[in-house]
Amino acid sequence: MKVLIKKEDLKRRIKELAKQISEDYRGKTPVFIAILKGAFVFLSDLIRELEIDCIVDFMAVTSYNGSTESSGAVEFLKDITMDIQGKDVIIVEDIVDTGLTLDYIKKVLELRKPASLKICVLLDKKKKRKVKIEPDYVGFEIDDVFVVGYGLDFGEKYRNLPEIYCYEER
Ligand code: PRP
Repeated sequence: MKVLIKKEDLKRRIKELAKQISEDYRGKTPVFIAILKGAFVFLSDLIRELEIDCIVDFMAVTSYNGSTESSGAVEFLKDITMDIQGKDVIIVEDIVDTGLTLDYIKKVLELRKPASLKICVLLDKKKKRKVKIEPDYVGFEIDDVFVVGYGLDFGEKYRNLPEIYCYEER
């Protein structure tokens, strides 16, 4: 498989994102909600570069069901464990594609009345959008290629790869 984003580039960009978030949330303790499974690698690298305190929680949803195309239906698998009312929340995602997942999660979390709600994604596949979602923090904009590695899977495999690759059927 061909490398799309190298280790050094991931590291450098994530450091920049963490710096920006640290400046924007200075004096606050934001709650980072990572969307499982894909976001766990990005979250762990991102929070270790922060210069502020933070809290983490996890939500699990899925819509790809082992395919390279979104089924269009978001399936809710696991909720966060915290009460986020009045908290500054940042949703952490590995990738936004059609936007259906983030649109759904945003609506679910907004109902719980956080003080603020922002979105941080590592990869933004803008051309595939079906609903309007504008992430507040974006690592990289990418073309319409299926990517794996660094948390992202195909059929649950390749999440452990340290770089981001364009997936090619073998
Ligand atoms: C992937 C990814 C995002 C979502 C983005 O999750 O982690 O959550 O798809 O696609 P969308 O913008 O078209 O909704 P997936 O359903 O593959 O589950 P996973 O994170 O467990 O791999």
